[in-house]
Amino acid sequence: MTDFSSFEHKPSATEETLLQQLDRDNLPRHVAIIMDGNGRWAAQRHLPRIAGHKAGIQSVREIVTFSCEIGIQALTLYAFSNENWNRPVKEITQLMILLERFLNKELKTMMKNEIRFQAIGQIDRLQDSVVKLIRSVEKETRNNNKMTLILALSYGGRTEIVDAIKKVHQDLEQERMTIKDLDEKSFSKYLYTCNIPDPDLMIRTSGEVRVSNFLLWQVAYTELYFTKTPWPDFRKIHFLRALCDYQGRERRYGLISGEQNH
Ligand code: IPE
Ligand code: IPE
Ligand code: MG
Repeated sequence: MTDFSSFEHKPSATEETLLQQLDRDNLPRHVAIIMDGNGRWAAQRHLPRIAGHKAGIQSVREIVTFSCEIGIQALTLYAFSNENWNRPVKEITQLMILLERFLNKELKTMMKNEIRFQAIGQIDRLQDSVVKLIRSVEKETRNNNKMTLILALSYGGRTEIVDAIKKVHQDLEQERMTIKDLDEKSFSKYLYTCNIPDPDLMIRTSGEVRVSNFLLWQVAYTELYFTKTPWPDFRKIHFLRALCDYQGRERRYGLISGEQNH
């Protein structure tokens, strides 16, 4: 019986049970996460918003390591949106400091766990030192091939599509392609995510049920999962719940139930 609630079920299953239940042959290849709720998590504790962002880094570490361990190929984390540029300068500055610290600290772990790092978004809008650091971590990790960790920074789905259209236009003008060559597949090669498969699963934490301009083109057939757990509290068990929920779904792609199996 289908449960039409868009929120996670709170199963009593333990982490161990969920791990046993998890079908390693049916993992999402690409998981995208909207890491939301840091500010509210902090406010509930009468702490400044930045404390929530700091606490959220521990969740990032745990989810990245675990994803890599179980064999997820790509993990995209929405860390800073185009719209987030409208936040107070103080919060933006603090977020950038945390990002720099994270990249500097995690490079070792990425090398050890063979994680390739990639940033998507209008990276050049970030301050020079952050851009340099991002490019150097991308370069350093480029031959790692266990998992790709993608950080969406200064990212907006609509901007990504407009940027892609501009690139298509350029290629048409310079006769590197003809309009006949343009279809869904060739267009997607112009997106920031050109080398990454579309997400199979998108998770949003903290109770909001919206996509907030994230991977708009790519989520056409992504399974969506919403949890009320705020990002700083999101741990392995919450991730496992999302993965098990995903594995219980039938992805029909417009076909009739069971049809794709024939
Ligand atoms: C998500 O947490 C992190 C970023 C957007 C940078 P928020 O900062 O949006 O936290 P809430 O949603 O205000 O609780
Ligand atoms: C989305 O969260 C962006 C990130 C998680 C980086 P927001 O908190 O910015 O989104 P809205 O404002 O609730 O839609
Ligand atoms: Mg938010």
